[in-house]
Amino acid sequence: MALLTLDGLHLSFGGVAALAGVSLEVNANDFFAIIGPNGAGKTSIFNCISGIYAPTRGRILFNGQDITPLKPHRRAKLQIARTFQNIALFKGMTVLDNLKIGNHIRLRSGVLACGLYYGKAAREEFAHRATIEREIIDLLELQEIRHKIVGTLPYGLQKRVELARALALDPTLLLLDEPTAGMNAEETEDMVRFILYVKQVKRPTVVMIEHDMGVVMDISDRYPVPPPPWTGWRREAPPQWEPHYGREWHEEAHERNWREREERWGRGEGRGCPPGLAKQGRC
Ligand SMILES: Nc1ncnc2c1ncn2[C@@H]1O[C@H](COP(=O)(O)OP(=O)(O)O)[C@@H](O)[C@H]1O
Ligand SMILES: [Mg+2]
Repeated sequence: MALLTLDGLHLSFGGVAALAGVSLEVNANDFFAIIGPNGAGKTSIFNCISGIYAPTRGRILFNGQDITPLKPHRRAKLQIARTFQNIALFKGMTVLDNLKIGNHIRLRSGVLACGLYYGKAAREEFAHRATIEREIIDLLELQEIRHKIVGTLPYGLQKRVELARALALDPTLLLLDEPTAGMNAEETEDMVRFILYVKQVKRPTVVMIEHDMGVVMDISDRYPVPPPPWTGWRREAPPQWEPHYGREWHEEAHERNWREREERWGRGEGRGCPPGLAKQGRC
């Protein structure tokens, strides 16, 4: 069974049809990309999945459950996390605090109880901090900047923090809206490398919107090609492609990933795996 099914989504704003019968299926552990020109309705698809927009027609199934009527916070509880095309972080707060907000939703005790640092809440807060620090900060190499105020960081880093914030929810489904938008070549290359890290280590289910075809072809397993005139989306087999950055870059980046990870987390079983994830047997 598909993890996510969009079944004939329609969405209009006034007379403008943003979506006209979008259907697609995403399986668990898929890395699925959505491509298309500006205004094609890509972000609207994410807004429908995360519950910001209600489709005028059609259904959204998540794990077999019809989530179309659910409010956004209920969908976040299902661990559907997303990043935004325009960065949506608390810019006056530190990197770590932004990550903690991402994860707060998972804690069973309420925010108030956690604030009191009391018994179970305090232990959860502790475990929660440890998870964030070990896994995500290590994974995305944010050690040096975790106490920095987000607004003071360069754009590329802020985008990486946003990815970290979404990952802090430990998402079952991760929605990435143009993770490399507005980046220069170096920042894009870095981001591709970090998304590849995440893909290798956490094997998440991802739907990524991206208009840089090089990025799409380097990261995603498959993507649908929207046939004109935007009446729906047809699924395509993984294309035969020559990677954008070239095979050498890929081989080198792959080797570098594992070399650096082994230096940090050791060889043998669970090689290159952050301790938090190794303990859970997740890599
Ligand atoms: N909140 C809104 N109000 C009115 N029109 C909107 C709104 N959101 C999106 N649209 C329109 O829907 C279409 C698709 O937009 P969007 O999903 O943002 O496209 P993309 O992400 O592919 O660039 C565009 O024509 C856009 O102007
Ligand atoms: Mg968009």
